[in-house]
Amino acid sequence: MDRKVVLVVGSGGREHALCMSLAASSLVSQVHCTPGNAGTAFLATNHSVSATDLQGVLDLAKSIGAELVVAGPEAPLCAGLADLLSEHSIPCFGPVAALAHLEGSKLHAKEVMRAANVPTAAFHVLDSDSDLDAALDDFAGDPWVVKRDVLAGGKGVVVTEDRDEARAFIQSSIVSDGRVLLEAFLPGEEASMLVVMDGSGFVCLPASQDHKRAFDGDTGPNTGGMGAYCPAPVVTDDIRNRTIETIVKPMHTYLCAGEQPYRGVLYVGLMIPESGNPSVVEFNVRFGDPECQITLPLIESDVFELLNAAATDGLNDLEVRFRNLHAATVVLAAEGYPHSPVKGRKIRGLTSIAPTFESENGWVNHAGTGRDSNGVLISTGGRVLSCSATGQTLAESVATAYELLATIELEGSHHRSDIGFRAL
Ligand code: AMP
Ligand code: GLY
Repeated sequence: MDRKVVLVVGSGGREHALCMSLAASSLVSQVHCTPGNAGTAFLATNHSVSATDLQGVLDLAKSIGAELVVAGPEAPLCAGLADLLSEHSIPCFGPVAALAHLEGSKLHAKEVMRAANVPTAAFHVLDSDSDLDAALDDFAGDPWVVKRDVLAGGKGVVVTEDRDEARAFIQSSIVSDGRVLLEAFLPGEEASMLVVMDGSGFVCLPASQDHKRAFDGDTGPNTGGMGAYCPAPVVTDDIRNRTIETIVKPMHTYLCAGEQPYRGVLYVGLMIPESGNPSVVEFNVRFGDPECQITLPLIESDVFELLNAAATDGLNDLEVRFRNLHAATVVLAAEGYPHSPVKGRKIRGLTSIAPTFESENGWVNHAGTGRDSNGVLISTGGRVLSCSATGQTLAESVATAYELLATIELEGSHHRSDIGFRAL
């Protein structure tokens, strides 16, 4: 096959990892990224179009002759990027807006799970006419789980044993959004399964676990993710099979029943209780960040071939092989992240060599990085970069990732020092 031109949309560590995989493919001639970051610039041609400027992305895709567009974040998908590209016959990895709504609205996701008979926590939908105390009583005895029904970038969920706090968050969410979800608390351990799917089939990638809280021991505020590892031993073969039977297969059937099938990756956030019967905590319509950074390197097959197959309903004909390795990543976050990250500080210690997943000493994925007017590498976001490594064991991959992190300097930055602790 002719080598292809690919456009990656987004600017985080996930998109840098996607660029790494695509640049390593013998089937790809050029990788472009918009808007990208200082890391994607090593591997791809960066452009200045914002990820949510749909017409701008379409025009860019046409002007560079993109034969595949890979959407990193959810916002452009929820806004209809895949729909627009489809009208112009440009294959897109990422679902159309009607299906991306699974992430855009938690209530919609609940309704889909009910229709598809997929296990998830019981819930109430509350609005200004609801009896809040009756609903709070219904789930009393466990922490209350309150979820806003909007794309809230990880800030839309409160899990609390404090009834007044739960009530206050319910009330403020009803004022801002009109309605809110109150969910039954699910006990257990969390894991994420990334499922690449299209109208012809699906491929489950090795399950991973991320660390959402800012500080060691899973304390502090929720973040986008402070580190992750893959595979997650909590997802045994038995639990993986149960997840496929009770969650992945019914969701695949549901998501591929319409005119346009789901073409992209479904992020299944799982809660695994002692019984071993998994429930869904959340769905996302994209790769997790930083889960992507440690899942892609475990794919031995060509990643372009996988993403392109999913964008063109070719998965059923594809055999995907995985590496029998472990991978871990630790995020370096700016001072003040997640509440008010300090930006614009110099980053020292990074080489300008284009990273590869094969490096024995691990690799760095840039996230919030850029260059100042003198070309000096600076921080531009809350999660600045992540250091990752593979290894024969989880412990080895974690140790290498931390050795790499120790070589990088960013004033005031912080990171978790216990990545993988549940599994180690
Ligand atoms: P979400 O944005 O829906 O993934 O929720 C954020 C986090 O809140 C999850 O990663 C869980 O740690 C926690 N959470 C969400 N729903 C529940 C639930 N029903 N029971 C227990 N914890 C939950
Ligand atoms: N790391 C969690 C997420 O990407 O949603």
